[in-house]
Amino acid sequence: MRDILAVLNIIKWGPRRMFRAKTVLLLVLAGSLFMRSAVAISSSKEGQSATDRTDYVGDAKCHTCHREVAQNYQHTPHHLTSQLATIDSVHGSFQNGANSLVINDPAQSAEPGLQFHMESKKDGLFETARSGWGSQVYQRTERIDLVTGSGVRGQTYLFWQGNRLFELPASYWSDGHRWINSPGYIDGTADFSRPVNPACLECHATYIRALSTNPATNRYDRKSLVPGISCESCHGPGANHVQQMRHATTAKDPSILNPAKFSRDMQVDLCAECHNGIQREGLAAAFSYIPGHPLKEYFKQLPSPDVEHPDVHGNQVGLLQRSKCYRSSEQMSCSTCHDVHTTGQSLESYSAKCLSCHNWQSCGMSKEMGNKITNKCIDCHMPVEETNVIVSQTAGQVVHAKMRNHWIKVYADARQPANGAKADHP
Ligand code: HEC
Ligand code: HEC
Ligand code: HEC
Ligand code: HEC
Ligand code: HEC
Ligand code: HEC
Ligand code: HEC
Repeated sequence: MRDILAVLNIIKWGPRRMFRAKTVLLLVLAGSLFMRSAVAISSSKEGQSATDRTDYVGDAKCHTCHREVAQNYQHTPHHLTSQLATIDSVHGSFQNGANSLVINDPAQSAEPGLQFHMESKKDGLFETARSGWGSQVYQRTERIDLVTGSGVRGQTYLFWQGNRLFELPASYWSDGHRWINSPGYIDGTADFSRPVNPACLECHATYIRALSTNPATNRYDRKSLVPGISCESCHGPGANHVQQMRHATTAKDPSILNPAKFSRDMQVDLCAECHNGIQREGLAAAFSYIPGHPLKEYFKQLPSPDVEHPDVHGNQVGLLQRSKCYRSSEQMSCSTCHDVHTTGQSLESYSAKCLSCHNWQSCGMSKEMGNKITNKCIDCHMPVEETNVIVSQTAGQVVHAKMRNHWIKVYADARQPANGAKADHP
């Protein structure tokens, strides 16, 4: 029954969208930022050891010896950035009254009367799109199988159809705790046909085995999925280390990668695997990157407008690298400010990092504000900005993302800290 309805809807929803093409160009652009362009893999690294995962042991093993680190890590956005769907991992509401996505004008929609309903049932969580009236009602329901995004800004949900993975049309946005059209989707349409390619999961999961080397494929070995970003995503395969440490008489073990021992460039490359924007071409099989190796052997960065104008996908690497702090110092890396193993660093603690290289007196505002500026450096020199890229357009409302600008510099309009604290005039 569900399948027949699904087929009806593919026929119905497929071609109709064409008519609205012009008006939604902007949204499509936003959508294309969200999805990596599919480009053929060059032959040099094709298939290279990407499917040989026997040296990867999983986080539970690390937990036995690095208990404190591993326990804290469980709560980080990295660990939670993809999960199997449960009532806890899905942040969107299933409560009556808050479990629907309203279209701007259902009568004018490409799918007259279109509505989305999200339901929690005994056998899972579901998104349903329904349109039409009377006896001409069309309906498609799909299960929410996978969650992408820990929910800091939002979450996008995915569903399986056999071994093929697709994106669902309704996403969650944390600002306002509401359902929105998935990024790049057109208000008033219900599209269940957007495939999820390996690039998406390469940044949001530890591993999944694709059934084809075509980067546009969405066919996977479902059982091979390791959700979340794991210790070994950044430390490399751990089997050897675990083996060594079980019988070790010494604590020195070169077989596990410690990024602190990489060159600055290789340290930043590790983070750039996922934090350098999403406009790039894969040169090697997904999941084949090993930390400590030059990223340019795995990805070709494409010029993109999203460095300064991100959607939910920022480009902290590109922006930080424009900063004088980065260019004039040899040691600044992402780890200067971030400890990826924990959460809950206060904003003030980041300003303290500035003071490892600067005196607060070297700031032109110090005369005016006195030492009050010492814990407010980032408010003025790394402001939070609302980006002008449309994440989603839903029911007439335009949704933008707020991002911390990683270009450390003097901002013309930043003579007062953004958090509302007033300058002190003696
Ligand atoms: C049987 C115990 C044991 C297990 C299991 C284990 N480790 Fe270790 N690990 C150690 C010890 C002991 C050290 C050295 C002391 C330290 O740095 O804590 C170490 C050191 C490290 C270092 C620093 C290496 C360096 O060169 O400075 C990293 C990184 C690391 N482990 C990561 C991991 C990861 C990731 C896992 C899971 C794949 C893991 N460990 C599993 C015992 C273990
Ligand atoms: C395999 C991909 C990947 C790698 C490698 C990676 N990140 Fe991330 N990072 C993500 C994703 C995805 C998110 C968004 C998590 C979410 O909220 O769903 C994220 C979020 C973050 C955040 C914001 C959340 C928080 O924990 O405060 C920081 C900061 C961060 N990453 C820093 C780093 C640094 C520093 C490195 C390098 C040492 C790094 N990341 C490496 C994928 C990655
Ligand atoms: C190049 C790596 C990369 C690719 C490809 C990528 N993402 Fe992301 N994604 C990230 C990072 C990193 C963040 C955190 C962004 C930040 O804070 O700057 C993020 C953020 C998100 C968020 C918001 C998370 C939160 O907690 O607020 C969602 C949802 C998301 N991505 C979904 C997707 C989906 C779905 C795809 C595939 C269609 C995808 N992403 C492709 C790296 C990537
Ligand atoms: C997003 C990338 C990332 C993930 C995920 C990650 N680490 Fe790390 N880890 C790093 C970086 C970067 C450093 C080096 C930090 C520095 O420069 O001081 C590091 C350092 C370490 C060290 C050495 C600490 C020291 O004091 O020298 C250990 C041990 C470690 N990590 C264990 C783990 C374990 C266990 C997990 C999983 C629970 C894990 N890491 C997950 C990036 C990561
Ligand atoms: C690793 C050392 C280091 C850290 C950490 C650091 N800086 Fe810098 N910063 C420098 C160096 C070196 C320069 C260039 C020389 C100079 O102008 O003093 C610089 C330059 C600057 C400039 C001038 C930028 C321009 O475009 O003219 C500002 C503003 C600044 N830093 C603010 C900060 C703030 C705020 C922080 C913390 C968020 C910070 N810095 C963290 C090393 C650092
Ligand atoms: C000079 C300090 C500093 C450095 C260096 C730095 N960050 Fe950040 N980063 C911050 C601050 C401050 C925030 C905001 C934290 C908050 O709001 O809790 C932040 C937030 C983030 C976020 C969350 C997204 C957002 O917009 O809030 C990500 C992802 C991130 N940083 C990644 C990186 C990566 C990758 C690097 C290296 C290229 C890096 N950062 C280097 C200070 C820094
Ligand atoms: C209220 C906003 C504000 C705060 C807070 C603030 N700054 Fe500044 N900072 C500025 C402005 C504006 C300038 C340019 C001043 C001028 O030209 O007179 C500046 C200039 C600077 C410069 C010199 C840039 C140059 O011309 O080379 C440095 C370095 C700097 N700040 C570092 C810091 C550090 C470190 C902190 C935290 C202790 C900090 N600032 C806190 C607004 C701020």
